[in-house]
Amino acid sequence: MEITIKDLFRKQEKLENKSVSIMGWVRNNRDQKSFGFIDLNDGSCFETLQIVYERDFLENYKEVSKFRVGSSIEVIGKVVLTPKAKQPFEVKATKITLIGDSLEDYPIQPKRHSREFLRENAHLRMRTNLFNATFRVRSVVSHAIHKFFQDRNFIYVHAPIITTSDAEGAGEMFQVTTLDLEEKIDYSKDFFTKKANLSVSGQLQAEAYALAFRNVYTFAPTFRAENSNTKIHASEFWMIEPEIAFADLQDNMDLAEDMLKYIITDVFDRCPSEINFFDRFVEKGLKQKLQKVLNSKFKVVTHKEAINILIENKNKFEVTPVQGKDLATEHEKFLTKYFDGPVFVIDWPKDIKAFYMRMNDDGETVAGMDLLVPKAGELIGGSQREERLDVLEQRIKDFNIEDEDLWWYKDLRKYGGCKHAGFGLGLERMVMYVTGVDNIRDVLPFPRTPKNCEF
Ligand code: 4AD
Ligand code: MG
Repeated sequence: MEITIKDLFRKQEKLENKSVSIMGWVRNNRDQKSFGFIDLNDGSCFETLQIVYERDFLENYKEVSKFRVGSSIEVIGKVVLTPKAKQPFEVKATKITLIGDSLEDYPIQPKRHSREFLRENAHLRMRTNLFNATFRVRSVVSHAIHKFFQDRNFIYVHAPIITTSDAEGAGEMFQVTTLDLEEKIDYSKDFFTKKANLSVSGQLQAEAYALAFRNVYTFAPTFRAENSNTKIHASEFWMIEPEIAFADLQDNMDLAEDMLKYIITDVFDRCPSEINFFDRFVEKGLKQKLQKVLNSKFKVVTHKEAINILIENKNKFEVTPVQGKDLATEHEKFLTKYFDGPVFVIDWPKDIKAFYMRMNDDGETVAGMDLLVPKAGELIGGSQREERLDVLEQRIKDFNIEDEDLWWYKDLRKYGGCKHAGFGLGLERMVMYVTGVDNIRDVLPFPRTPKNCEF
């Protein structure tokens, strides 16, 4: 009977003494002269299966004992329960066949490799425990996000990848063109007859859909030509952007908190071995941290209050905290420690946030929110949207934004506009948060960062 290792774990008792066949890759092979062990992984689960093979039972013992790490093989053998051993059962091989040999210079040997080395081998690194667990969790987190929104009747919107608007107004866009770049550029002759770029956010288009479906979300790749080489910035990353109509900043924060707790719960449910692994080898205390998040109410602090707290502790920082100014990374770190968990910073100075955020009554701040967490930093950024056309137009002017391409966005305020809000969750930062992996390059299958587009 052909079976996966995952099913073997599930049905081990029932399969005692039964013959099974498994295909997978050799993680390790140890020959002890009269018998040997192979650690086999078949991708169906994080765990590896221990295969025992004996000289007396296996015709091709000599050949098998030389199978190299990384080879793909087929094993036929009997399930033997081993209650006293480290692993609950093993398979005693009656036949082992080589499917695909792995050459001698296979880079992923069973020993510790540096993260940098593994990044250079991004096409092979998911064969290690660390990356196997990481990308398994990334898949589960993605599914959890869809489940969360679909169960709440949100409509999944595919915002365009190629756009002509700069949703964040930050000018960090990759251009899309078919023109000969050696020549003087005349955009009227370009493919779309105007300047186009890869989307930095699907928010503006999501707003249009929220004003028809009430609750929507996007889940898509996003591109930023931001030249910052940090552990939390990538040039291509995935963003989830819910947008909710007839809703304000408080509703937005409630949604974000429910979503995060849902994701963590789902990861605990579906990835217990992976989480144990991360807790042991990547971030000590990870489980406890996440458990605490589940059991607590997220803190909320205004930007002004946050700066006051930082000013009281200003000798701890290199960058002096100043009212009206953005938070530096060290400030964010301090605040998550200070509040001992995730904290929403709300009501941001109007000059340092995007044009679409709703102006508060004080005329100085906007109804924005950033959720800060340890390590991943800003996990979520969002806001209530400016639904008043005149105020929005003034904001667009204040920021000197070319608004030719925003005519349709302004239409949304003319035809049945209403208060609405939304946020963006960076998928990679979420994965970092639940795994403890501290570099965004290690949670992206093939990371794109400044000066790096290999594979
Ligand atoms: O704060 P940001 O720029 O907000 C927006 O794009 C809004 N349009 C979202 C909205 O309201 N619908 O980005 C949102 C989140 C950040 O909090 C962060 O988690 C992630 O996206 N993010 C990045 N992740 C990786 N690499 C980058 N360069 C990122 N920039 C933002
Ligand atoms: Mg932000």
